[in-house]
Amino acid sequence: MSLFNKSVSMMIDKIPPQAIGVFAKRYIAGPTLDDAIRTTKKLNAEGAMTTIDVLGEFVSTREETWHFRNLAIKVLEAIDQHKLNANLSLKLTQMGLKLSKALCLENIEMIFEKAKELGIFVRIDMEDSTCTDDTLEIYRNYRDKYNIGTVLQAYMRRTIDDIHRLSDGRLNFRLCKGIYDEPREIAYKEKDIVRDNYIWALETLFEKKAYVGIATHDEYLVFHAERLIRKYGLNRDDYEFQMLLGVDEQLRKIILSRGHRLRVYVPFGEDWLPYSIRRLKENPNIIKSALEGYVK
Ligand code: FDA
Repeated sequence: MSLFNKSVSMMIDKIPPQAIGVFAKRYIAGPTLDDAIRTTKKLNAEGAMTTIDVLGEFVSTREETWHFRNLAIKVLEAIDQHKLNANLSLKLTQMGLKLSKALCLENIEMIFEKAKELGIFVRIDMEDSTCTDDTLEIYRNYRDKYNIGTVLQAYMRRTIDDIHRLSDGRLNFRLCKGIYDEPREIAYKEKDIVRDNYIWALETLFEKKAYVGIATHDEYLVFHAERLIRKYGLNRDDYEFQMLLGVDEQLRKIILSRGHRLRVYVPFGEDWLPYSIRRLKENPNIIKSALEGYVK
């Protein structure tokens, strides 16, 4: 990352929310479920699938978790009602993981039941490392009863071991680099090692016949994923690529034009700030180019 980008990235926490909103609009469908439905319809028409995410994380009251649980159920009903080619992504801290595990399980079971009734897949997002053990344990405990998957992060030193540990059952993972700021003791900090670990994890998952959501905008990884897809003779339905809304639409079109299936992560909701900050820190160039345009 250039010195300028590093400084912008460090400054982002100090920028007022209204200003963040201006830069972050591209990453979010809008504040309401209707926005997510409209965005999904548009992406479906372009040949992409979506996964819809209700924004909001690390909630602090039981009532908030119920609000988000009901919203997630509304998403499932909307997917069914509008016949969208979409599924649901879910954050466990939004369901109360940090308040009470029992509360979290109660909430997610209601969502999983509704998803099962409607035949819709649910993906549990991976949050910071304080959630990893719980997330993988919940995935293991529910994966036989419900059509669910979770996420593995290539920056985590434990990821290859997690794949082996979970190999005694159905494997369905989104594989991403990882977005949280983790300590070096548990996470690789070197970009090249994270890439190598991504490729190693992806090949290990293919060897184990896992269904993988290959979530990246890094064309180097897309290249290696295509190589491995050929090496393992995978069919089109055995995997999917995944990208975030608002990121590298040209690459999205290239992947689709090469005959792969691709899913776009479509977040919506009022609670857009933490998600937007993560996206902007990931790519301070968005702010840089806007500032350059402003200065000119
Ligand atoms: P990298 O960050 O190197 O980006 C490659 C290129 O993509 C950049 O050079 C730039 O051109 C472009 N790009 C990347 N981010 C951009 C941005 N914000 N704005 C504009 N351009 C950008 N993480 C996690 O910890 N838990 C999770 O559950 C998920 N879920 C998830 C779902 C999906 C569908 C995706 C695609 C990603 C996630 N992530 C995630 C985030 C993931 O861990 C990672 O932080 C981002 O995907 C960025 O990593 P890349 O592999 O894209 O590489």
